[in-house]
Amino acid sequence: MKPVIFDVDTGIDDALAMAYALNSPELEVLGFTTCYGNVSVAEATRNTLAVLEKIGKHIPVYEGADQTFVRGEKEGWAKHVHGEDGLGNALKNAPIIQAESKFASDFIIEQVKKRPNEVTIIAVGPLTNLAMAINKAPEIIPIVKDVVVMGGAVKVPGNVTPYGEANIVADPEAAEYVFSSGFPVTLVGLDVTMQTTLPKSKLNEWRATGQEMAHFFADMTEFYIKFYESFAPDIGGCALHDPLAVGVVIDSSFVKTEMMNIKVVTEGEEVGRTIGHFEGEPKIRICTGVEAERFLEHFLSRVI
Ligand code: BDR
Ligand code: CA
Repeated sequence: MKPVIFDVDTGIDDALAMAYALNSPELEVLGFTTCYGNVSVAEATRNTLAVLEKIGKHIPVYEGADQTFVRGEKEGWAKHVHGEDGLGNALKNAPIIQAESKFASDFIIEQVKKRPNEVTIIAVGPLTNLAMAINKAPEIIPIVKDVVVMGGAVKVPGNVTPYGEANIVADPEAAEYVFSSGFPVTLVGLDVTMQTTLPKSKLNEWRATGQEMAHFFADMTEFYIKFYESFAPDIGGCALHDPLAVGVVIDSSFVKTEMMNIKVVTEGEEVGRTIGHFEGEPKIRICTGVEAERFLEHFLSRVI
């Protein structure tokens, strides 16, 4: 089993990724860390706890950054994409379970030091918690096993601007800091995630299981698919951004990769753009191809 720390801004596709990870015997989820992004950090923590309750697994949750790494910005939630509650307006009750008191980046530092060269970090929100962890304890950089990031758009256009992908645009300075830190990063960006589509027809199959959790996931995902019907009608469903990052940790053969370095644009019209380049020794593994059907089948066999 691979020990992983899962950094989320829960969000609909984050919730799907959580279920996929927790139902995968290859992974030992040590804890979830939360960040602002799709919603505020308090809402991301609440949603993470609510999803854990629905799935029926008690994994510790550590709240993290409520604002960006350098600028201290707090605004700009994606309620039109993920709903007022961040879970497609499907959340009826607040969770009973509570978050731990330790701060997210301190949990990351503690776990990496406790298990040197073992821990994989999966990050599917803005990279603020990771930037804070390496800023406070740079000695963790050479002892993290892998850092798999859902973010960026290297050879394709962005999704929140013509250039930038949401997680990177939300905190470009944190992304630049993490990508240039020496962390062994695999970038699972829009280059591959926009090729992974969950078709709407699957939602009724989930509902037909009769499970409460499957109904909740179907209602939540229906909201996301409605957004995609206007945002990217050609794909015929919603993109499985965050689940693909989990898929890559379980089985890296789902993707084809190229080694490069990444420069993040931190100012101006192209802010948040992730530019691939070959200056210096290439250190970032960029996903450039995906076996989308094989991944979808694997995801569907585990998510519900
Ligand atoms: C990313 O942005 C968020 O809205 C999603 O949860 C995903 O992590 C896709 O650009
Ligand atoms: Ca996310």
